[in-house]
Amino acid sequence: MSKLLFTGGTVVTAEGSYPADVLVEDEKVTAVGTNLDANGAEVVDASGRLVMPGFIDAHTHMDMPFGGTMTADDWATGTEAAAAGGTTTIIDFALQEEGGTLAGAVEAWTEKARGKAVIDYGFHVAITDLRDDIKAELPSLAEKGVASVKIFMAYKGTPLYTEDDDLFETLQLSREAGVLVLVHAENGDAIAKLQQQALARGDTGPKFHALTRPEAVEAEATNRAIRLAEVAGAPILVVHVSCAPALEAIHLAHERGQTVYAETCPQYFAFEYEDLARPGFEGAKYVCSPPLRNPSNRPALWNGLKVGDLQIFGSDHCAFNYEGQKDLGRDDFTLIPNGIPGAEERAMALWTLGVREGKLSENQFVAALSTNQARIYGAYPTKGTLAPGADADVVLWDPELSTTATAENRHGNVDYTPYEGRTFTGGPAAVYVRGGLVYGDGEVVGERGSGRFVERALNLPSIGPVAV
Ligand code: URP
Ligand code: ZN
Ligand code: ZN
Repeated sequence: MSKLLFTGGTVVTAEGSYPADVLVEDEKVTAVGTNLDANGAEVVDASGRLVMPGFIDAHTHMDMPFGGTMTADDWATGTEAAAAGGTTTIIDFALQEEGGTLAGAVEAWTEKARGKAVIDYGFHVAITDLRDDIKAELPSLAEKGVASVKIFMAYKGTPLYTEDDDLFETLQLSREAGVLVLVHAENGDAIAKLQQQALARGDTGPKFHALTRPEAVEAEATNRAIRLAEVAGAPILVVHVSCAPALEAIHLAHERGQTVYAETCPQYFAFEYEDLARPGFEGAKYVCSPPLRNPSNRPALWNGLKVGDLQIFGSDHCAFNYEGQKDLGRDDFTLIPNGIPGAEERAMALWTLGVREGKLSENQFVAALSTNQARIYGAYPTKGTLAPGADADVVLWDPELSTTATAENRHGNVDYTPYEGRTFTGGPAAVYVRGGLVYGDGEVVGERGSGRFVERALNLPSIGPVAV
């Protein structure tokens, strides 16, 4: 039986912070308390460290076809990058293929992860084709431990784009099936029209990616999705909220008492619209959707995280190389693959920009990176906490660790980092998955293939459909 004892650190959970030792036996936390007896356990000196539950990143895209190419990180390099950022579990988006089934998506993603993942993982299925057989199949997802699906309201002209009638019916069916619906909320029709008009004017550079996806198209789709969820009597989760007007729609729903969960991401705090307008084609490195915004949105987003309108901080790690992938759109911004890497930087960015700047407490940091994700996505209390019975996923966080990001010192497989030259203060000194060291002293040491599938189950809040 393997035994570990973390001693002398400060345990930081979503609820509070206190000095305590953490005992781990056979992959599980078995005790948290002061002066625990080592009793044969290997002792890990955690003095000066904050001992946190492993971080969960429920928004990644590993080895995924998108924008006419494949994401640069597969399940080995992508989970290594995540581990180097303190993440011990990811939930990745398994895409339903054209003509394919939901089970087919889960099987394909299981194969992608097999032998590669260094941390634990689950899947959401992105529904792209809600045929009758898919409607019938949806309830079986929950039985497979896949408790969430995603609908893309954006990306018109691609197989991902979904019309409102299918979004609405997915909400109804998922509610019955105990499955949570996630939405990418941008008005795909308006964006497609604005893109056509921009190209017709000869506006082809990366900054037009943002200019053809204004805040209002995100706010409109966010409000529409929330209202459709209200009619369906279903909870909903809005991913990658980038701006104050979209957050306002979420806040108003909360004031009405509606169950709406929401995520924001590091790129909306670390970068801004001006990065897309960098000279030459450099702005392509910052193309993601929703796009980078004016920094005037940030106070609202920080406040959203603080008061709980935004509960989740995910990376939306969707990496493409600059050479050979981003440059597919050199003459036409609509062909630049959307997405940026961020799994490695997510927690360091939140600590540096949020906790150190007094915008969030260390407990809110743990909530947004770990506990809320486990609770909302149905993995709590196996994941997301440090309490007896939980998986021993542990981050020893050094609040003073200084890291300057460069493409060369990143652990993923991308030829650039949007964070080039950025210094973070605060980072993981060591990361453990189920009691096994996966990252320490700047090196990923976890074995590829050691990550395990995490079955998730949801007890969705009971919300009746509006009276008709
Ligand atoms: O630009 C982004 N966010 N790419 C990933 C796909 C998505 O929309 O989440
Ligand atoms: Zn999206
Ligand atoms: Zn995404």
